[in-house]
Amino acid sequence: MGFVWGSRLFLVGPRGSGKTTVARLLGERLGWAWLDADLLLEERAGCSIRELFAREGEAGFRDRETALLRELTQRENQVIATGGGIVLRAENRALLRGGAVVWLTADAETLWQRIAADPTTADRRPKLTVGGREEVAQVLAQREALYREVAQYTVDTREGTPEEIAAQIHGWLLGS
Ligand code: S3P
Repeated sequence: MGFVWGSRLFLVGPRGSGKTTVARLLGERLGWAWLDADLLLEERAGCSIRELFAREGEAGFRDRETALLRELTQRENQVIATGGGIVLRAENRALLRGGAVVWLTADAETLWQRIAADPTTADRRPKLTVGGREEVAQVLAQREALYREVAQYTVDTREGTPEEIAAQIHGWLLGS
């Protein structure tokens, strides 16, 4: 495979864009391991991200997130689903250059519908601003330029199944 970014791929994008599901499917296609950075972080911390935010504040969580990202950029043959806020820090955006970066996009309403349909995920995630539908739109507006800055490839997830999205990314990787 003429893959010039090292053998790791990061999926970035907002909550509800399907990063975890697509990471698993793409990992299976490539014969690579896959992981969700938030899940790994929760496992190591022994609590949910919501609890981490409550205990250590957002800054504490972001420090852990950066430390984990630094570690993940050393691994080979992995598809990595990142947290939606990974692009906020310039240091993280620089670290993401250690792999291929694919941005999963959708409009705020679609994201909100998916988040609202998945209450277990909502329980584990802290509020970032005002919560709900309004927060999704606010956060997206703040971050879109940052996702664009790091992404080498962008997939619109409004249409298509997670399988089709994984196949599209796989096709891009093979051709790149
Ligand atoms: C966050 C998104 C979450 C998680 C944390 C902060 C964000 O990840 O990292 O709650 O700032 O958007 P998901 O994108 O997996 O929900």
